[in-house]
Amino acid sequence: TTDYDLLIVGSGLFGAVFAHEATKIGKRCLVIDKRSHRGGNVYCEKIEDITIHKYGAHIFHTNDKFIWDYVNQFTTFNHYINSPVTLAKGRLYNLPFNMNTFYQLWGAITPEEARAKINVQIDRFGVANPANLEEQALSMVGKDIYETLIKEYTEKQWGRKATELPPFIIKRLPIRYTFDNNYFNDTYQGIPVGGYNKIIDGLLEGTEIRLNTDFFDDRSYFESLAETIVFTGKIDEYFDYQFGELEYRSLRFENEIINSSNFQGNAVVNYNDATVPFTRIIEHKHFEFGKQPQTVITKEYPESWSSKKEAFYPVNDKKNQAIYKQYCLMAKDSKVIFGGRLAEYKYYDMHQIIASAIRKFKTEYCETK
Ligand code: FDA
Repeated sequence: TTDYDLLIVGSGLFGAVFAHEATKIGKRCLVIDKRSHRGGNVYCEKIEDITIHKYGAHIFHTNDKFIWDYVNQFTTFNHYINSPVTLAKGRLYNLPFNMNTFYQLWGAITPEEARAKINVQIDRFGVANPANLEEQALSMVGKDIYETLIKEYTEKQWGRKATELPPFIIKRLPIRYTFDNNYFNDTYQGIPVGGYNKIIDGLLEGTEIRLNTDFFDDRSYFESLAETIVFTGKIDEYFDYQFGELEYRSLRFENEIINSSNFQGNAVVNYNDATVPFTRIIEHKHFEFGKQPQTVITKEYPESWSSKKEAFYPVNDKKNQAIYKQYCLMAKDSKVIFGGRLAEYKYYDMHQIIASAIRKFKTEYCETK
């Protein structure tokens, strides 16, 4: 017999939800994480008594009442609504593209005026079968919105020309003909009061956890500890990179403490221009309507990735998808349960990760035991 029923590699949302569900039915779990803290990318820390989202701004949103109730078991959410603004050539515009944006761009006052403006440009610059991101954007929103608010930001974010990016990156570009700055369309939205750590602590209550512990430092020892392994790290690393390395886009975060109670008046301000090296500034206190005397801001710099850096966004091009497919086939043949953003090489929002962990717990663990 083994010491544990389950070894869960990674204490991010996927691993923590999996551990919670398994512990609930009496399974003995060990969670390991190579970082010095639990929670993966939703981990928060305090600076100047302000909650900081250490790995980038995290706003919880979902349409699924079950998922909303699930996270609300562990904490209280505030009523934060994500309404970013973007700075382009010295002017501020509301996002997502809505009547406020169209007024700021063209002085359009009615939805009819705005629609006419956009449609004329789509007719003139759009193409039937967009072959790249630029053509896709021109076909969906026309030239002014694309050139003023999309092109430079997207090129910075991906480090490539819009004409060299695949069209599907912006498959959906929501346009609203209402004065509605709420970025997400979901029914439920908010930020957990005090940050995400409480959710992770609640999920992992009663579960043994070892931090600063990398699975690959002693793989055979960890494999011997439990009957079942749940792996939420990088799938290419798990299979020893035998089909090559999967590529990512990385980010660098620079924090500054500022001696002012309000730096930018909003939690998220995007910086569109190519001349500014960062893509956005997060002012964390506004996520919690904070009244602290000081403020902490984080500049977010997109960066090319190397295996020494944090992997943030998977690069979903043909080359990487083909490599991922090969790992996926190997994963299907193994007894290990692979889940989460790194093991599935996929961008997931938090609500999707929770749903996926609960589903995989039922279908890949419970139903096979
Ligand atoms: P996560 O990366 O969190 O956890 C994996 C864990 O495994 C890590 O702790 C890692 O250290 C550990 N690990 C890996 N390899 C290991 C090894 N070999 N040994 C031991 N441990 C190992 N979502 C949303 O809903 N709203 C939002 O606003 C945002 N915002 C956002 C901003 C940015 C910049 C990013 C990159 C992402 C978001 N997200 C988001 C998405 C959100 O971060 C994501 O859904 C979850 O954090 C994914 O949780 P996982 O458990 O899959 O991975």
